[in-house]
Amino acid sequence: MTTIFSGVQPTGTVTLGNYIGAFRQFVELQHTNDCLFCIVDQHAITVQQEPEELAKTIRSLAAIYIASGIDPKKATLFIQSEVPAHAQAGWMMQCISYIGELERMTQFKDKSAGKEGVSSGLLTYPPLMAADILLYNTDIVPVGDDQKQHVELTRDLAERFNSRYGEVLTIPDLRTPKNGARIKSLQDPLKKMSKSDPNKKGTISILDTPKDIEKKIKSAVTDSDGIVKFDVENKPGVSNLLVIESSLSGTPIQDLETKYEGAGYGAFKAGVAEAVIQHLAPIQEKYEELLASPLLDQYLDEGAEKANAIATATLNKMEAAMGLGRKRSRSK
Ligand code: TYM
Repeated sequence: MTTIFSGVQPTGTVTLGNYIGAFRQFVELQHTNDCLFCIVDQHAITVQQEPEELAKTIRSLAAIYIASGIDPKKATLFIQSEVPAHAQAGWMMQCISYIGELERMTQFKDKSAGKEGVSSGLLTYPPLMAADILLYNTDIVPVGDDQKQHVELTRDLAERFNSRYGEVLTIPDLRTPKNGARIKSLQDPLKKMSKSDPNKKGTISILDTPKDIEKKIKSAVTDSDGIVKFDVENKPGVSNLLVIESSLSGTPIQDLETKYEGAGYGAFKAGVAEAVIQHLAPIQEKYEELLASPLLDQYLDEGAEKANAIATATLNKMEAAMGLGRKRSRSK
């Protein structure tokens, strides 16, 4: 069976970008593959977090995974810090990474730009992500476009490890969705929709109320020609809204262009808002139920147990290959 691994940071609220770029792929893949999905709380602390808020966001993200359609009986859902092998393998990956290649990561450049106190964890974030992926002998990593560079680095690090220490690690492939790999900000359709965007009008949270969703989509930046047509270069705002409606409703973009022919942007935006609200309503309902249920912790406990077993086995092989501790002499 093909092994799938992906992770989401418990920071801020899950956006429609995360949902379309990542969660929808997860849900689709879980039926026919061996899937592991992680709440990467150790990645979250590369930027200072308020402890109580972080703890709440971790549970909330677990509920969002399941409310979005992840079946914890099929897929393994767990919290990164509950599987110590991640930090251990992360250190080993750091030791085979070069500072230069980490400094070249666009996410590091973006997140550190103009900041004075940048944590060293922000720089060594990608080797930890590589460890996340490699510990599970992952074949495929489903992510949005912005994680492409990190997955490519993971492949490089795995190849480097194997060539130095023997064939221990599986080289993973990247998977991005055909439609919606980079959902854009509603206020600046040249930028990706992001949890950390200070302009909240640009980002839809999957827990936003229908009223807020309507307001945000109504004030989305478009253009002045009034024609609903998919043209990313010349009409990025309209194209972004088309991608959002198409990926949530399953209607091809061409059919949406026909649906909105001659309709004007008012009707178009109302239609997009309706599609988003309709799609999110059952997710929001399930989310509230899960947060109040003891099942959530049970699922996370089971997930941590399963993940620990797999991760520890790979970690032992990695340590033996590198010559750490007494594993090598014991296995002889
Ligand atoms: P994170 O938490 O920033 O985002 C989670 C997932 O959402 C995707 N995404 C988007 N997709 C489309 N449009 C957008 N505007 C958009 N914004 C975010 C991301 O590509 C991602 O798939 N480094 C990762 C977390 C991570 C990870 C891993 C992922 C840690 N270890 C191992 C995969 C495998 C991150 O910060 O994702």
